[in-house]
Amino acid sequence: MDRIRIRGGKPLSGNIPIGGAKNATLPLMAAGLLSDGPLTLENAPDLADIATMRALLVQHGMKVEHDKAQRRLVLSGAAENLEAPYDLVRKMRASVLVMGPLVARFGEARVSLPGGCAIGTRPVDLHIKGLEQMGAVFDLEGGYMHAKAPGGLRGATIIFPQVSVGATENLLMAATLAEGTTELVNAAREPEIGDLAMCLMRMGARIEGIGTDRLVVEGVKRLGAATHPIIPDRIEAGTYACAAAITGGTVLLEGARMVDLGAVVRTLRECGVDVAEETEGLRITRKNGLRGADVMTEPFPGFATDMQAQFMALMCVAEGASMITETIFENRFMHVPELTRMGARIKYHGQSAIVRGVPKLSGAPVMATDLRASVSLVLAGLAAQGETIVNRVYHLDRGYESLERKLSAVGAEIERV
Ligand code: EPU
Repeated sequence: MDRIRIRGGKPLSGNIPIGGAKNATLPLMAAGLLSDGPLTLENAPDLADIATMRALLVQHGMKVEHDKAQRRLVLSGAAENLEAPYDLVRKMRASVLVMGPLVARFGEARVSLPGGCAIGTRPVDLHIKGLEQMGAVFDLEGGYMHAKAPGGLRGATIIFPQVSVGATENLLMAATLAEGTTELVNAAREPEIGDLAMCLMRMGARIEGIGTDRLVVEGVKRLGAATHPIIPDRIEAGTYACAAAITGGTVLLEGARMVDLGAVVRTLRECGVDVAEETEGLRITRKNGLRGADVMTEPFPGFATDMQAQFMALMCVAEGASMITETIFENRFMHVPELTRMGARIKYHGQSAIVRGVPKLSGAPVMATDLRASVSLVLAGLAAQGETIVNRVYHLDRGYESLERKLSAVGAEIERV
């Protein structure tokens, strides 16, 4: 099995190109089910999760071409098989995003329940309740959610009791083809949702309130072909910003946008990291020592849970103490024991962790159970004395394209072995 070997201590310097956002691409691909297309997605990343979504759509009966050289995905055709099988859904939870589009367009979907996950229980009750409010009838049988709406979905006012990115996306897609008006209240406002809404509008959907927590969708009879550029990956950008900061280097994140990274940028500045917006992207520079800072994860525009592990790695070598509180997922501190093995001083209780900065981390063999936890160990390895081996690299391949190539191009000593 592949591993990543890092020899730490090299300040990074140079440019890192930021790819299209994984968490925008997955729902955009599911949106391809809403029309015969073609739907052309530009700036598509080459990641394991994208390949999984492609396999899912292909088994539904769609044609999905991924031109990796051109970074383009072209989706066309219609679903014939309305079942999303366990084998694919258990590999990637975002597979449940096919449910809204399938029920809306074909009046039926049979989607495996995703089951547990390393970072939390992650139920999908909000997706189900919302579709029920739009007229779908659900049967839970054999580990599958079987939804039926033979006469099509109808508009409804859906008030989310809790902000959910996936449920907002599923219901937004479903609403585009429902009869009448759907109002999504307390909707998630993540940039990936704005991107999905923009793409749906290009396909002919009628949506108001993009970027706010109240989306109003006027259903249309059908959607058509469109070409849409995927937004840059704010989490990839934030991760490499932490890489520059933890090594005391200077890096230009090509294509990264300040608007997507507000809370992360504010926090990095509080820690003593310079962030400047340039025409080609964001420049991250750290010249002096790092200071500790407190963060709490929140739905956008708050500090992203997908940046919590990376920020914790950074705080391991900052001066003073930092309190990190995770409010989105109940089990997202799986990186703590691994960082501790590298010499970090972290204590956690419940949803909060106290990190007391140390002058140096030391390299060690480590492994993690999810994507962001894994990359936080890569960051720690870049700053650590000696050699770090990160095991279970397949987690990284789900969300970071050419990680070791991008980092070695800016001076890191990192290789896949
Ligand atoms: N929740 C429910 N019921 C639901 C849906 C969600 O209780 O029906 C809870 C979840 O258990 C969680 C909270 O609501 O506690 C927020 O979950 P959300 O639905 O927003 O998360 P998601 O859509 O499953 C997406 C990203 C995650 C990211 C979260 C939060 C994709 C494909 N995934 O997940 O990304 O952490 O939003 O921002 O967009 C990652 O990329 O590493 C990753 C885990």
